[in-house]
Amino acid sequence: MYGELDLGSLTLFSGSFINYGYWGELDPGRELTVEERTSSQAEMYRQVVSRLEPEPGDRLLELGCGLGVGAALAAAELGVLVSGLDRSAAQLERALAVNADAIQALGGALSFHRGSVTDIPWGDGSVDGVYAVEMLQHVDDLAAVAREAHRVLRPGGRLAAATFFAPDGADTSAIPDLIETVATGVDVIRPVGDFAADLTSAGFAEVAVESIGEHVWRQFDRWVAQTEYRDSWGRNWLRCYEDGIVDYYLVSARR
Ligand SMILES: C[S@@+](CC[C@H](N)C(=O)[O-])C[C@H]1O[C@@H](n2cnc3c(N)ncnc32)[C@H](O)[C@@H]1O
Repeated sequence: MYGELDLGSLTLFSGSFINYGYWGELDPGRELTVEERTSSQAEMYRQVVSRLEPEPGDRLLELGCGLGVGAALAAAELGVLVSGLDRSAAQLERALAVNADAIQALGGALSFHRGSVTDIPWGDGSVDGVYAVEMLQHVDDLAAVAREAHRVLRPGGRLAAATFFAPDGADTSAIPDLIETVATGVDVIRPVGDFAADLTSAGFAEVAVESIGEHVWRQFDRWVAQTEYRDSWGRNWLRCYEDGIVDYYLVSARR
């Protein structure tokens, strides 16, 4: 999925981000621009990282950093030190290339590393914040992610993660017929409450679940409708949201 195919190069995405975006109010009367699409994805990062309540100089770890432009954005805008972790060597090569200037400009404040979010190659209590943007849907064992995030965070450190889950109690049986990446197993859609429970079991406190779908699905669908994917299964995300079987969530917690 993230090897030879550079998902970030598809017209569904832009600016080397790979997320559906957190969108503001849109003028219904005109086409969306690539700049707006890129801004939506950068804003998803700002929303997630803000839940960490970061201070300048904090050490943040991004899980599933992809092409690393969100990590670079956080380091540049907030004066924090960001380490991006991804299991894909191809993604990390792209991240190093795309962010070559930022890595140099930011000195040691931005770095990229290979590893799995279920076995994080970091020491206990070594970071102030852990965050993830649209990556947990790829992970089979979210309880392991919760345990590992708890382990690497210092006491009082925060976790924030955004991606799509099912609302608790929703009948998700129709999703594989509607969403190709769920049918193939690339994406797994679980009840959001299961992940919240994993965080609590791992020892996290103040576990908070926010539905942010109103900022994601209709606007993302408008973007898809402008691309060559306008007749694809990708349009079914909005249908799943409107049917109440998928939503986009921002989950945060404190160690
Ligand atoms: C949809 S991309 C999101 C990239 C980035 N967060 C963004 O919003 O632009 C998901 C990323 O998670 C990575 N990934 C998936 N499973 C992983 C795992 N178990 N450990 C580490 N990275 C993983 C993939 O290689 C991919 O780069």
